[in-house]
Amino acid sequence: MDQSGSLDSRSKVGRYGIPSALALLIAAIVLWDQTARRPVPGPTGMPAPAVAPIPSSPYRNTQPGVAYVGDEVCARCHAEIARGYRGHPMGRSMSEAPGPEPAANGVVFTAGDLVYSVLQRGGKVVHREERRDAQGRTVESTERAVHYVLGSGRRGLAFLVEHDGGLYQSPITWYAETHRWGLAPLYEMQNLHFTRSITPGCLFCHSNRIDVAPGRPPVFHGLTIGCEQCHGPGALHARRPEPVDGRDWTIVNPADLEPRSLRESVCEQCHLQGSSRRPQPGRSAFDFRPGLPFDAFMVVSWARGDPIATIRAVGHVEQMRQSTCYRESGGELGCISCHDPHQLPAPEERVAYYQGRCQECHAERGCSLPRPERRAQQPDDDCTACHMPRSPAGDIAHTAITVHTIPRHRPMQR
Ligand code: HEC
Ligand code: HEC
Ligand code: HEC
Ligand code: HEC
Ligand code: HEC
Ligand code: HEC
Ligand code: HEC
Repeated sequence: MDQSGSLDSRSKVGRYGIPSALALLIAAIVLWDQTARRPVPGPTGMPAPAVAPIPSSPYRNTQPGVAYVGDEVCARCHAEIARGYRGHPMGRSMSEAPGPEPAANGVVFTAGDLVYSVLQRGGKVVHREERRDAQGRTVESTERAVHYVLGSGRRGLAFLVEHDGGLYQSPITWYAETHRWGLAPLYEMQNLHFTRSITPGCLFCHSNRIDVAPGRPPVFHGLTIGCEQCHGPGALHARRPEPVDGRDWTIVNPADLEPRSLRESVCEQCHLQGSSRRPQPGRSAFDFRPGLPFDAFMVVSWARGDPIATIRAVGHVEQMRQSTCYRESGGELGCISCHDPHQLPAPEERVAYYQGRCQECHAERGCSLPRPERRAQQPDDDCTACHMPRSPAGDIAHTAITVHTIPRHRPMQR
């Protein structure tokens, strides 16, 4: 699976036809994952590395010690938002097996002499890996019950199994866009079978808060990404909402955060991946609170020459920052200029929804291609069809992403 060799890692973002965006994404994550654990204090006798002070914030729930309350409590007073959010992919980011797993019972694919099966056994889903000899006889077999399904299924699903007190990834993966089962991303290069540990870093981006203790599987406080991941801990606010001149300093509303880098930090905790992420000395991603700058907690870097650095060509944050809209609006453009993090637009409203978002800034100076010409190509004048198309997937790609550089001209198809 030659994915990155053909891509010049210094090429600008906006190279299209990126093979297997998901594979690269997850590869980058593996690197970060290994460094995402809590940093250990310096060796005995050595002073611990200096920890830069965390900038202060007027939001009281950025202070250490404010408790989390969980989504059910928020839903009591914000029922409509909570209902909508349960339909968003982030609100369905993880589930207990079988979750959204497509029904299967039997062999789903083979890889060399390995045969992979998904089996239904008395209400449980079991993944099996068998090695077969030339005569087709099974010479080795491993079976693991699936505990959790990671992903909403928009692009793919990873399956987590528990054994020996730990959580591991199954080599069996579901690719939603090509609608097929296959090996986990990058496993064609190095098959880790059932031995790839699911570290806290992985769950930081894909689930709600977790408690970890060595030798035991993580304890989840809500499986899916929760309200407080973007709003900060809610105990003060849930006890007594305190609006003061339209602001409530007990809970963060990301839309109000200034400067804008603070607003973007909320999404960057999970959407800015670079080629590696490591904690600042003495800190961890888990110490971050919405309202604070994410870079005070994690350093995201882009390695030159590292094939995985091409990952930045698939990052939404990096691509958006390259866009003329971002650069010429003085950084006004952010993720929530176009995305409602609580709810996806219904399919029939999608075109009008994004047109509306573009018009917020382009009402005066709009498209320079005359409307009749646009309509000839796009009867519904879908701005995103021409300026934010899906990047075409190469033949080994399992997934594609929407071009976030917002180019003037539709990128060439390969
Ligand atoms: C007891 C009812 C109650 C609970 C529980 C509650 N809220 Fe609120 N929330 C309100 C009210 C009332 C407002 C509007 C007035 C205000 O801002 O205080 C509000 C406002 C907000 C705002 C906007 C604040 C602003 O400054 O614009 C956010 C964000 C918010 N809530 C998030 C949450 C989250 C997240 C939770 C769960 C951790 C939660 N709320 C739990 C009643 C509640
Ligand atoms: C830095 C944050 C981050 C880490 C760490 C991370 N992911 Fe992801 N992952 C994402 C984001 C963001 C997406 C959505 C990207 C998109 O839709 O283009 C995603 C998408 C996925 C998807 C597709 C989900 C779907 O519903 O379509 C799978 C499967 C996945 N990741 C698996 C993993 C596994 C397994 C790990 C740990 C080994 C991991 N990820 C670690 C941020 C992360
Ligand atoms: C992925 C991040 C994210 C998650 C998860 C999230 N929110 Fe929000 N929320 C935001 C952002 C961003 C805004 C500001 C939206 C805007 O004004 O464009 C917001 C705004 C709000 C507001 C202010 C009023 C409004 O209608 O916009 C409330 C209340 C709120 N969220 C409650 C919740 C509750 C309850 C949950 C969980 C069910 C939740 N949010 C989950 C990011 C998130
Ligand atoms: C705690 C981690 C986390 C945070 C914080 C977060 N995201 Fe996500 N986001 C994810 C993951 C993981 C997915 C993929 C979910 C899936 O499909 O399984 C995702 C998916 C999405 C999607 C894709 C929906 C689709 O069409 O499939 C959008 C859009 C998005 N996030 C926007 C945002 C915005 C805007 C913010 C900031 C307000 C934000 N996210 C904050 C982790 C996060
Ligand atoms: C926050 C404001 C903002 C939003 C929202 C926004 N843009 Fe822009 N965009 C700008 C600015 C500012 C420019 C540069 C001045 C100009 O060309 O009008 C620009 C330029 C462009 C260009 C010219 C790019 C080039 O390189 O020549 C295109 C195409 C474009 N925008 C399309 C879109 C589309 C499509 C959307 C909606 C999906 C959108 N924009 C949303 C602010 C925005
Ligand atoms: C100018 C508008 C615009 C901005 C700004 C924007 N997006 Fe998007 N985004 C889109 C559109 C349009 C789609 C495609 C939605 C669809 O296909 O229904 C999309 C899709 C996505 C997806 C789903 C996967 C994919 O690639 O199709 C994710 C994840 C995402 N955006 C994250 C982000 C994040 C994170 C930011 C901020 C760094 C951001 N977006 C900023 C318009 C925007
Ligand atoms: C059929 C494809 C198509 C559609 C649909 C389309 N555009 Fe364009 N747009 C173009 C092309 C091509 C250009 C460049 C024309 C040129 O260079 O003269 C352009 C140019 C632009 C520019 C740059 C204008 C300038 O003065 O430099 C903006 C902004 C823009 N489009 C916004 C939009 C918005 C907003 C929508 C949705 C209402 C939209 N476009 C729909 C193809 C399209």
